[in-house]
Amino acid sequence: MSQDLKFVTAVSGQTSKGLILRKEKLSDLIKEADFVSTLYLSITGRKPKKTENLILNALLVASIDHGISPASGLVPRIVASSGGDIYAAMATSILSLGPYHGGAVTGAMNAFNEIDQEGDDVEKACENLIYAYRLRNERIPGFGHPIYKKIDPRAKILFELARKNNLDIQFMNIAKQLEHTLEDKFSKKLVLNIDGAMAALLLTINVDPSAGNAIFGLARVAGSIAHIIEEQQSGKWVRRLKDEDVEYAA
Ligand SMILES: CC(C)(COP(=O)(O)OP(=O)(O)OC[C@H]1O[C@@H](n2cnc3c(N)ncnc32)[C@H](O)[C@@H]1OP(=O)(O)O)[C@@H](O)C(=O)NCCC(=O)NCCS
Repeated sequence: MSQDLKFVTAVSGQTSKGLILRKEKLSDLIKEADFVSTLYLSITGRKPKKTENLILNALLVASIDHGISPASGLVPRIVASSGGDIYAAMATSILSLGPYHGGAVTGAMNAFNEIDQEGDDVEKACENLIYAYRLRNERIPGFGHPIYKKIDPRAKILFELARKNNLDIQFMNIAKQLEHTLEDKFSKKLVLNIDGAMAALLLTINVDPSAGNAIFGLARVAGSIAHIIEEQQSGKWVRRLKDEDVEYAA
C-alpha cells in the first residue's frame, strides 16, 4: 500500500523557536552541550546523567580505531587509494561491519536482557542461553576475538571505569558470568570482546538495544576519517594485493 510523505516525529523539527531536538533548542545545545550528551539526548529522548555521559563517551573512544588490519580500517584505505571520495570511503568503513566485526552489540544486548529476565539464578540462565544458541548453531554475540585470547583490554578498562564510577553492576555481572560459564561448563575460552562490553554498558546506561550496533559503527566511521585522509595524501594510488598472495585454484 502506498504511503504519503507526511511524517510525525518526536525526534526533531523546525518550530517558531528554531530547530528543536527532543524538546531542547538546538541553539541552546550548541552553547551548552557536548556531542556525546547530544547524541544520548537524540537517541534516548532525555539528557544523560553525568555517569551515563562518561560511559557513552568511553565506549565511543574505545571503538574509534583498532588499526588498519580489521576490515573497517583496511577497506576505506583501499577505496581511498583508488580515488574514491571521502564519503564513498567512509561508507565502506561502516559497510564492512557485520555480525563477526562490530555488529554483535545489539545481539549481545538482547542476550543479556534474556538472561536478566530469567530471574535470580544468573548462572543457570547463562547455561540455558548457551544451550539455546548451540541448538540453533549460532555463536554467542559479544564473545571471542581473533587476537585477544585471554582478555580484551578494552573490555577490562571499560568495566573498571564503570565500577570506579559506581554504575550498576547487574549487566556487567551477567556478561562476566556468561564468559565464566562458557569456559567452566562448555570448555570454551572466549573473551568478552568490545561488542560484549559495549552491550553490557549500553544496557547499564539505558540505551535501547536497537541502537547498539549503530553506536559502534558511529565510532568506527569517525575513526576512518584520519585513515582516509592519510591514504589520500600518501600518493600511493590503487593499492592491490601482490599476485603471489592470491592463489587461483579452479
Ligand atoms: C569474533 C570471532 C569471529 C573471532 O573468531 P576466531 O577467534 O577467529 O575464532 P573462530 O571463528 O576460528 O572460532 C574458533 C572456535 O570457537 C568457536 N567460537 C568462536 N566464537 C564463538 C562464540 N561467540 N560463540 C560460540 N562459539 C564461538 C567457533 O565456533 C570455533 O569452534 P570450533 O573450533 O569447535 O569449530 C568469533 O569469536 C565470533 O564469531 N564471535 C561472535 C560474534 C562477535 O562477538 N563479534 C564481534 C567481534 S569484536
